[in-house]
Amino acid sequence: MCGIVGVIGSRDVVPLLVDGLKRLEYRGYDSAGIATLSATGAIERRRAEGKIVRLEDKLRNEPMQSLIGIAHTRWATHGAPNEANAHPHATERVAMVHNGIIENYREIGEELIARGHKFQSQTDTEVALRLIDQYLADGKSPEQAVLAALGRLRGAFALGILFHGEEDLLIGARRGAPLAVGFGNGEMYLGSDALALAPLTDRIAYMEEGDCVILSRTGARFLDADGKPAERVVRATAISGAMIGKGNYRHYMLKEIYEQPAVMGDTINTVIGPKDRLAHLPDLGIDLGSITRITIVACGTSYYSGMVAKYWLERYARIGVEVDVASEFRYREAPVDTQGLAIFISQSGETADTLAAMRYVKAQGGRTLAIVNVPESSMAREADGILLTKAGPEIGVASTKAFTCQLVTLAAFSLAMTQARNALPAEEVRRLMAALVEVPARAAEVLNHDDDLHALAEKIMDARDVLYIGRGPCFPLALEGALKLKEISYIHAEGYAAGELKHGPIALIDEVVPVIVIAPSDSLFEKTISNMQEVMARGGKVIFMSDRKGLAHVDDRTFATVVLPEVEPFVAPILYAIPVQLLAYHVAVLKGTDVDQPRNLAKSVTVE
Ligand code: F6R
Repeated sequence: MCGIVGVIGSRDVVPLLVDGLKRLEYRGYDSAGIATLSATGAIERRRAEGKIVRLEDKLRNEPMQSLIGIAHTRWATHGAPNEANAHPHATERVAMVHNGIIENYREIGEELIARGHKFQSQTDTEVALRLIDQYLADGKSPEQAVLAALGRLRGAFALGILFHGEEDLLIGARRGAPLAVGFGNGEMYLGSDALALAPLTDRIAYMEEGDCVILSRTGARFLDADGKPAERVVRATAISGAMIGKGNYRHYMLKEIYEQPAVMGDTINTVIGPKDRLAHLPDLGIDLGSITRITIVACGTSYYSGMVAKYWLERYARIGVEVDVASEFRYREAPVDTQGLAIFISQSGETADTLAAMRYVKAQGGRTLAIVNVPESSMAREADGILLTKAGPEIGVASTKAFTCQLVTLAAFSLAMTQARNALPAEEVRRLMAALVEVPARAAEVLNHDDDLHALAEKIMDARDVLYIGRGPCFPLALEGALKLKEISYIHAEGYAAGELKHGPIALIDEVVPVIVIAPSDSLFEKTISNMQEVMARGGKVIFMSDRKGLAHVDDRTFATVVLPEVEPFVAPILYAIPVQLLAYHVAVLKGTDVDQPRNLAKSVTVE
């Protein structure tokens, strides 16, 4: 949440800052701003409510130029998303951008007010800013002032700070929110992630928890959480500037949906043995055969991939699994089984609740495995073992390709567990693996139905409510379908386990509420069909998603059908993700919403 960029350059940095912000806009887009130093060393700012284009308009009318600057795109936590609350916040002495939350803002704020500070925003950021300002006024150097302030601030945050008259100094601090340092030629950079810095440099050092960094044009000096000098490894990052273009696609979300066959293939190739065609995971440092129980923790769409995995692990590997949303798990004080394994699933690897849940398990002596898409993320660095999904940068706020890559990874993990526990004969595991290897090809076939889903979207776009139902591993797909629709089209949608409908939600059925039935022909097919009949008997408007075999069961009361390839039921939930994504996408486009940046959302939720 919120994106930070900072540059000390040997050229005008304003266009670099704006470009960096655009790459970080997925993190929040309530307001944006830039602070630089003028030729006389004075702090100058431009800020605008709304998206970065509004800031660009402002910069056209009131241009600025500088060799040093910090910039920010905001997802509001404290204070409304208006210009007064937009970052950078500044006094005459110091300017600051901030991602995260400062918990003890009230107590410090009162103290500062008593010392004569007049606050100009409702943000917690301004408290941190004015604390540094006060230390500067008390005679401390910029570095001393920042370290003194860091000693008092509580919470999870990343900061970028510049100072009046200090043209060769930028300070960054990381506590609980990510921050990367980029190394250029005679230029240095700060960024919330490597993506922001991709066109500027591929040499990145990731700050560690509690680090502070002092940047000049020629280098970086790191201090650890105790304020002691520290060495941080500079790595070459593979993320290139070109990788985040939209190509010929109208939206990132559509591009990312269409990338799924390729990125699922890349992901599968990392977990399958090329010769024996069995699951071969990279060395996790964990003996899978010794695991007695699995706990899966994640948020949102990633949580739904964990729910699907529960069905696979319990059915094939015969191991007990519990799945929980991270925001609940982290405060539940759940006992941690040291013989068990806790799996944390996250596209970003930075989601605050999931990361905190992982730290809780580690602190209790539990073993942790992270399934993440960003190799340099906090979760990837802190977990005992990692499985990387190969989805590549996901820019659209609604998760699509990251979800299906999580599913193929979890499918392979489930088979690896099945092998390790000898829960199925090798031949059977090989057969399931063969079905998994076929998924990218089948996914490409599903994409051929895009026009049908567009036509279906026209039929449901005016609905006020939509229900999704599914059974077994397709129940989480019903939840995911509903989440996709509500987050990008703003239509109210709910997902239910098909068998649960008659325990209440069936009261919602009438002739105007579309009910999307996700029903591959599997062992639960007949049961789902009974639930569909219950809906149709009450005049419900059924949209039936199934394969050719399943479609034999539809009758003229079915409102619409979507035909998918017939596949081994094990992999069906992976394929059924695609039509629910496309349906939500087309409805949103028809309704004219901002598909890639839906209201109130941000891609990477680094606050709790
Ligand atoms: C929905 C969506 C979110 C994320 C959730 C977790 O489309 O994208 O629900 O899945 O915020 O994010 P990660 O996976 O980065 O931990």
